[in-house]
Amino acid sequence: MTDITIEQANLQDLKEILQLQKEAFVTEAESHGNYDIEPLKQTYESILSEFQTHLFLKAMYENKIIGSVKYRAITDIVWVGKLIVNPLFRKRGIGRRLLTEVENLNPDAAKFQLFTAALSIHNIRLYESVGYEVHSTYKDENQSDLEMVEMIKLINR
Ligand SMILES: CC(C)(COP(=O)(O)OP(=O)(O)OC[C@H]1O[C@@H](n2cnc3c(N)ncnc32)[C@H](O)[C@@H]1OP(=O)(O)O)[C@@H](O)C(=O)NCCC(=O)NCCS
Repeated sequence: MTDITIEQANLQDLKEILQLQKEAFVTEAESHGNYDIEPLKQTYESILSEFQTHLFLKAMYENKIIGSVKYRAITDIVWVGKLIVNPLFRKRGIGRRLLTEVENLNPDAAKFQLFTAALSIHNIRLYESVGYEVHSTYKDENQSDLEMVEMIKLINR
């Protein structure tokens, strides 16, 4: 879709991004049979506080936010989180475009790092397709039955 643009999100976008996040993660909750997950429970105050330390990108279609991702760069390590795409716009490469844009905006990064649920095989496959590799697995600190994976993409120069 060529009419989808990716831009940096601003403070005024946060409510819409949080709403989209809740819509987006319903499919994730359904597929794992677990609705007790942080993305569905996050408050506006919490995302507002993340906005002080993270940059958010938004994918726009006809003035509507249909995708987002956030990231935080500390020295040459970039932590990537909350990749979301409106369920009606999935499987068209928007998630991949958002991930690629994070990389383009951090040309000097040596390492990109993200976390996802071990059961989310489609997410893991998407991340692997753009160069991330599973680095470790661990139990979520708030939910011991939720297994997570840490994925890393190293940039070799
Ligand atoms: C994860 C998520 C962001 C992916 O968004 P997306 O826009 O569908 O991602 P993409 O389209 O880039 O890639 C997803 C799949 O679509 C395929 N695809 C990409 N472009 C395509 C196209 N033009 N036509 C058909 N399929 C396409 C990809 O190959 C990939 O397929 P695979 O799963 O079989 O490997 C989305 O599913 C989502 O919001 N999920 C809920 C929230 C979530 O779990 N986020 C991740 C948290 S870690």
